[in-house]
Amino acid sequence: MDKISLLQHKTEQALQGGGAKRIEAQHKKGKLTARERLQLLLDEGSFEEIGMMVTHRSRDFGMEKEIYPGDGVVTGYGTVNGRLVYVYSQDFTVFGGSLSETHAEKIVKIMDLAMQNGAPVIGLNDSGGARIQEGVVSLGGYADIFHRNVKASGVVPQISAIMGPCAGGAVYSPAITDFILMVEHTSYMFVTGPNVVKTVTHETVTSEELGGAHTHASKSGVTHFACAHEVECIENIKKLVSYIPQNCEEDAPVYDYELADETRKKLNDIIPANPNQPYDIKEVIEELADAGSFMEVHKDYAENIVVGFARIGGRSIGIVANQPAYLAGVLDINSSKKGARFTRFCDAFNIPLLVVVDVPGFLPGTDQEWNGIITNGAKLLYALSEATVPKITVITRKAYGGAYDVMNSKHIGADLNYAWPTAEIAVMGAKGAAEIIFKKEISEATDPEAKLKEKEAEYIDKFANPYMAAARGFIDEVIMPADTRAKLIKGFKMLENKVVKMPKRKHGNIPL
Ligand code: HXC
Repeated sequence: MDKISLLQHKTEQALQGGGAKRIEAQHKKGKLTARERLQLLLDEGSFEEIGMMVTHRSRDFGMEKEIYPGDGVVTGYGTVNGRLVYVYSQDFTVFGGSLSETHAEKIVKIMDLAMQNGAPVIGLNDSGGARIQEGVVSLGGYADIFHRNVKASGVVPQISAIMGPCAGGAVYSPAITDFILMVEHTSYMFVTGPNVVKTVTHETVTSEELGGAHTHASKSGVTHFACAHEVECIENIKKLVSYIPQNCEEDAPVYDYELADETRKKLNDIIPANPNQPYDIKEVIEELADAGSFMEVHKDYAENIVVGFARIGGRSIGIVANQPAYLAGVLDINSSKKGARFTRFCDAFNIPLLVVVDVPGFLPGTDQEWNGIITNGAKLLYALSEATVPKITVITRKAYGGAYDVMNSKHIGADLNYAWPTAEIAVMGAKGAAEIIFKKEISEATDPEAKLKEKEAEYIDKFANPYMAAARGFIDEVIMPADTRAKLIKGFKMLENKVVKMPKRKHGNIPL
């Protein structure tokens, strides 16, 4: 074979992965191939492959006869909507996408390039785990990737899509990255699979139940997005990337926006007359954000807090909002972790934060206390407090107790704090407060119930409003709900050059 023909032959081989039969098997499972996925993800013609001719070095178990150029992973760079990204896409048709020494080296190479050149890494995972024929060199390859995941954390965005199996220690690379997306029914993640589970705990469970997209989206919170199919998954990656900067030293892309009438009258009528009646905070968010720009993250997990990206006046912001329509918007362990993780991502990547507050407090109970609401609640407090990006708070209704402090209060460094006239800012609810501080007066009254009502009303009158906080300057302005969007546009613009100097230290010690 002459030299040109040899190149053509090897290229052909690499493009075929594990061969037509295995590609067909992949399609039959409802999965695309590694290359088809990249084609959907990257701008047409933008993909440049790196390491197409790499082959494994294994010579045991007949491996010397099974050589596939590329070795089960397609790596390189390209653009998504014109912006540079580094990618790897595991090819299940080659040894089940399993990770060999050289497969790992290819991934490491593009991660190093991403770090050096300051652009996101997107990993499309579809793998049977460590290449069983290779032993420890494969495990070492995983560790090389994990180490880079950690180094890259907070430097360049890292996104993991799980599009097939992801089991054993292999789950820990995606776990360290910023966002995980899974595909329903064709992907799963677990540390130990159903067979081991059955042996150890005698539980019978399917792969889907144990570690499918729905499970991780709603029960464990491991995945941020559960996607109906692979195309939706890839579309979500592209959308996600549009809100975030290339690296920690840049700002997110700004979209053209022409100021118009920014009044949102609907907001004036959104808070129910009865303070205990729920409403959907997402309706508030939709009014505050640029039309159709809100992308919810972690939608099905800890629904008492809503987090996600949006644009306000064309600028990317991260939103953390209590959800009164779910558990009255109370803060608990899971919602605190969810809010904290999202806050830290935004802070690491210069995305300003909007915190929308309607919170009755922290959830009481033995379950919460014994599982560590103290440590976990502190995560949200820590994350919001340490964040140095522009931070604006809007209190729509309740801001009670410690949760008032935690939810981006002025005291922990918020730049602008707004409250609607419906805001109630107090140590606790009026009934509980009256019962404690007027206990004697109530019990000695001829009609204790009437006395309690009277004292409750007194407390509401004094504290269940934003004016005491505004008088102290803890609230900068009490605003009409309809004017909130206009205030946010101006506020975030005013804060765009914010610089905060932090004390010299190696790193803080967030209560993990
Ligand atoms: C080498 C592998 C492989 C692996 C799959 N294959 N996993 N080859 N190393 N880890 C090969 C199969 O031999 C098969 O080759 C092809 O990939 C497709 O696999 P199938 O079993 O036919 O596919 P399917 O029925 O879809 O099952 C997929 C699977 C199963 C569930 C992933 O293959 C499986 O259980 N694999 C082993 C998983 C595992 O135990 N991995 C090690 C985990 S420990 P042919 O030639 O027949 O097409 C681990 C530690 C990481 O990963 C530690 C990091 C710190």
